[in-house]
Amino acid sequence: VKRAADEIPDAPASLYLRPTLIGTDPVIGKAATPSDGTLLYILASPVGDYFKAGSPMKLLVETENMRCAPHMGRVKCGGNYASALPWVLKAKAEHGAHQVLFCPNGDVQETAAANFALINGNEIITKPLTAEFLHGVTRDSVLTVAKDMGYTVSERNFTVAELKAAVENGAEAILTGTAAVISPVTSFVIGGQEIAVQSTERGNAIRKAVTDIQYGLAEDKYGWLVEVC
Ligand SMILES: Cc1ncc(COP(=O)(O)O)c(C=O)c1O
Repeated sequence: VKRAADEIPDAPASLYLRPTLIGTDPVIGKAATPSDGTLLYILASPVGDYFKAGSPMKLLVETENMRCAPHMGRVKCGGNYASALPWVLKAKAEHGAHQVLFCPNGDVQETAAANFALINGNEIITKPLTAEFLHGVTRDSVLTVAKDMGYTVSERNFTVAELKAAVENGAEAILTGTAAVISPVTSFVIGGQEIAVQSTERGNAIRKAVTDIQYGLAEDKYGWLVEVC
């Protein structure tokens, strides 16, 4: 971060750090075996506030196709993003959706680049940590802050049927991720039917609680902030 200090943009833009690990053994057969030599490097890139508060966020609920192979979901590898792309492009072209919520066989998991949580009254529901999806740090921060805000946090499996019924009865939903920050969902497309989310109030309040800590506007009770420059 010190080396890239001149590139750090003003908030709400930020410097995105992406550690990357590649195998470097000069043997073509290594495609099928682990590499003994590796290179670890860190991409440091200025990024904008891509999902601004108040932007629409329409999610296509995809129940037939997966984001990636189930045992690889927890790993942040490039192939997983390529694997999700056809469904994301199709959802944009056919439904004007901004993202795809992957729910193989009805199991609500995550989008192509962010975790997902349902806010049903005082309960925040999100899938428990399994190998199938990425264990985002923002998910963890949201659950920590939400508990302190008085929410009941339920890390449990839930289905598209439960999601649909909850949203029709006034539940909210959010995407969480370093790039997405905390983006309230504004509508879902489920089985060809568009369902509007009635409110984004709770999601926006959680977003503010987390970003206030990031920007130093609220006390950091959790020891998340590190001074580097
Ligand atoms: C597939 C996927 N899920 C979830 C996340 C959110 O993770 P984090 O909160 O660590 O950024 C990301 C972020 O890049 C992601 O690519």
